[in-house]
Amino acid sequence: MFTRFRRNRMHAVLRDMLCETHLRVDDFIYPLFVRSGKNIKKEVTSLPGVFQMSIDEILQECKELQELGIRSIILFGIPDVKDSVGSEALCEHSIVAQTIRAIKKAYPDMLIVSDLCFCEYTDHGHCGVIDPKTQSVENDITLENLAVQAVIHAKAGVDMIAPSGMMDGMITAIRDGLDAEGFVNLPIMSYSTKFASSYYGPFRDVAESAPSFGDRRTYQMNPANRKEALRESVEDEMQGADILMVKPALAYLDIVRDIKESTLLPLAVYNVSGEYAMLKAAAKAGVIDYEGVMMETLLGMKRAGADIIITYHAKEAAKILNG
Ligand code: PBG
Ligand code: ZN
Repeated sequence: MFTRFRRNRMHAVLRDMLCETHLRVDDFIYPLFVRSGKNIKKEVTSLPGVFQMSIDEILQECKELQELGIRSIILFGIPDVKDSVGSEALCEHSIVAQTIRAIKKAYPDMLIVSDLCFCEYTDHGHCGVIDPKTQSVENDITLENLAVQAVIHAKAGVDMIAPSGMMDGMITAIRDGLDAEGFVNLPIMSYSTKFASSYYGPFRDVAESAPSFGDRRTYQMNPANRKEALRESVEDEMQGADILMVKPALAYLDIVRDIKESTLLPLAVYNVSGEYAMLKAAAKAGVIDYEGVMMETLLGMKRAGADIIITYHAKEAAKILNG
């Protein structure tokens, strides 16, 4: 006796009928990088197909996204000036606040998510204020700044806040800050389990956010740690996060599954820049079927337990899903 698995694979319709995991365009959030100026659309070599854009170009991009059925973006700002605290991010006229207002006006139905961190805005490239004694990020002062930054985005009309700095207590601090200003219904998607990963390299070129000294290992997680990964996400749920996240995605699908099984909250993954760049490089070298590998990779993230995928592949994948 043995099972004839192939019976259910013989007819294409039956195969489709028995498909257990489905990717949808609504699963995707597309990252956008905004900087000041006009008519700026600058590609960065390490991340082909991804651009630094001025607001007018971002609006053009939103039109294209709308046509593809992509209804959600995550915004990263590249400021004109950086300083030790990241003041540009703490001002009502920050590039991200301006962009949120412009998109809200032109595309009111777009779900705008804002990445909340300081590494793009500080001259040292770390995700918060540096404590001169330890030369590491000062957690609790950074929390106060995060709350200010969140309220600025909220006032500009953002639809969801996504803190990515891995500061302890960041969800409590941001939630309190938002609630105090009346934004009780604004959701927080926490980068709850974020590893200190080499896969962020290309992003740091585009966002101009590489640390000028040291690394991020005093706040981002050790890639070796599974139990701690769970604790980080469970903690953010307790602090009031509305959606959790694992980042990066591809090398951490076991963590995605672990967290999915430990929470009833929706779970996002960030299919990060290095993961995207690897596929692009392999395609350019002619060694893979790019579209096939891309869709299989995204499907794997969904199957592992992701409800949401933040991905630079969103437009290419939407084209395939739209047929
Ligand atoms: C900043 C931030 C990073 C990414 C998103 N937000 C990078 C970092 O921690 O240096 C990475 C995204 C990617 O690699 O695509 N806190
Ligand atoms: Zn950061």
